[in-house]
Amino acid sequence: MLKTTAPAFGEPYRGKVREVYELDEETLGIVVTDRISAFDHIMKQAIPYKGQILNNLAAFSFDKVDDLVNTHIIDVPHPNVTIAKKCDPVPVEVVIRACLTGHAWRVYKSGKRELCGVKLPDGMVENEHFEEPILTPATKAKEGHDEDISEKEILDRGIVDEKIWAEIREKAFKVFERGRKVASEQGLILVDTKYEFGLYNGEVTLIDEVHTADSSRYFYSDGYEERLAKGEKQKQLSKEFLREWLMDHDFQGLEGQTLPDLPDEFRWEVFDRYAELFKELTGKQFEPTSTENFVKELPLIFEAYTL
Ligand SMILES: Nc1ncnc2c1ncn2[C@@H]1O[C@H](COP(=O)(O)OP(=O)(O)OP(=O)(O)O)[C@@H](O)[C@H]1O
Ligand SMILES: [Mg+2]
Repeated sequence: MLKTTAPAFGEPYRGKVREVYELDEETLGIVVTDRISAFDHIMKQAIPYKGQILNNLAAFSFDKVDDLVNTHIIDVPHPNVTIAKKCDPVPVEVVIRACLTGHAWRVYKSGKRELCGVKLPDGMVENEHFEEPILTPATKAKEGHDEDISEKEILDRGIVDEKIWAEIREKAFKVFERGRKVASEQGLILVDTKYEFGLYNGEVTLIDEVHTADSSRYFYSDGYEERLAKGEKQKQLSKEFLREWLMDHDFQGLEGQTLPDLPDEFRWEVFDRYAELFKELTGKQFEPTSTENFVKELPLIFEAYTL
């Protein structure tokens, strides 16, 4: 398990996946750990090398969109570490969906024809593409589950300034289009994704991670139409694999349910899925880097970026 202490740099903010150190007033040192979460719970066992895969996937994808949007990336000096601009996070998860999948499908199946203020046409089937991608934001709750919210409510409640929101939604759709293009060139469909934005010196900036296995769903393009027509499951490259395993083990994050242990064999299967997405999307084989000396290396890495 990746140990991430760097006492000289204070206590990090420990998110579900990332440990965020403040290197100075403008700079964050973000360590992407091997932790994995699902249904808002951190699993008791980590996934080997997941942090490296995720951090490198994010770096790859940030690079693909940085002509469209300001990104928080300053540098990626180690497979587990990103040095980033410290932004004021905008407290909204900016979710864009190309397909009727996951949460959107569950809402649709229950008979509703509106999601986050977006009207949904009748007669759609699971995993079908919308005519155009839709924006279905969620509030970034300090604790507990994120909740769906409409764009109108975001503005009415003053959660985000109108001008800033207009820029965020425009950027989000553009970045999503690019993500779809990058994916489709590799034979993948970008199904849906979640963006986080922040303000850096007042400028809208894409933060956290982008188009990774944790923040996005991908399908294989090959056979998508046939599977859709037959009502079969799609071939997924995402965390859905873990969610399904958990549901098979009676866990959906509901009260009274016990978080199951992830057996070693299954942890390596999850690793395989992450490595597969890395290979499919970047065209490169994932090569693990040893983290044996990470505790010693981390302060040295950070030092290079402090004022
Ligand atoms: N450039 C940035 N500036 C400020 N905050 C950032 C930046 N990049 C990421 N973050 C924040 O750092 C945290 C990353 O940790 P992680 O992804 O593990 O958190 P999480 O558990 O998903 O979310 P949270 O901790 O907010 O519930 C998130 O809260 C994210 O919003
Ligand atoms: Mg996160």
